[in-house]
Amino acid sequence: MLPVAVLVSGSGSNLQALLDASAADPEFGARIAVVISDRPGVGALQRALQSGVPAEVVRWGEFNDRESFSVAICDTAERYGAEALILAGFMRILSPAAIDRYPNRIINIHPALLPAFPGAHAVPAALAHGVKVSGVTVHFVDDEVDHGPIIAQQAVPVQSDDTEETLHARIQKEEHLLFPLVIKAFSAGSLRVVGRHVIWEES
Ligand code: GRF
Repeated sequence: MLPVAVLVSGSGSNLQALLDASAADPEFGARIAVVISDRPGVGALQRALQSGVPAEVVRWGEFNDRESFSVAICDTAERYGAEALILAGFMRILSPAAIDRYPNRIINIHPALLPAFPGAHAVPAALAHGVKVSGVTVHFVDDEVDHGPIIAQQAVPVQSDDTEETLHARIQKEEHLLFPLVIKAFSAGSLRVVGRHVIWEES
């Protein structure tokens, strides 16, 4: 079982999808060793508690810069033996130091089809642009925001009467299917990174 840390900032529905997959699928391959939030009081921490998974808060506001915050996140993850970081709605950018500590071992989920609409406001940005299709991207994290090698994507149609809420809900439905699938493949050692390309191999 690959021990992983899941990093969160919000409601944690993607965390829940991973918790459910690990409970339901004996082949899932990842063990959530710790959930780390950058803020107290979020739903994701409650979900960790309910599942009996250790949870930690590393408060963004307590650090002077991104570097020391990122080091604290990695130190916390390491204390629990985590060998990878899974960003499940984590709204902070990790410094290059963190990325060097977990090369091709940090995975993020983004609510748009990258490279379109990177950043924190992907869903309203896609709506404002008038796209007919958006979706989900799961990717390895590199030094640039929402940029690293793409592991998997799923398209989601945009409807003419969509609001940010209705489109995000449709995207999240797909997130909850795709994310566990990717984490399972990653844990099995089935993802090989060649430059910008991620090759899915049989394990
Ligand atoms: C997801 O839509 C994810 O793509 C984005 O933040 C959202 C987190 O939602 N990065 P949740 O906390 O997992 O419910």
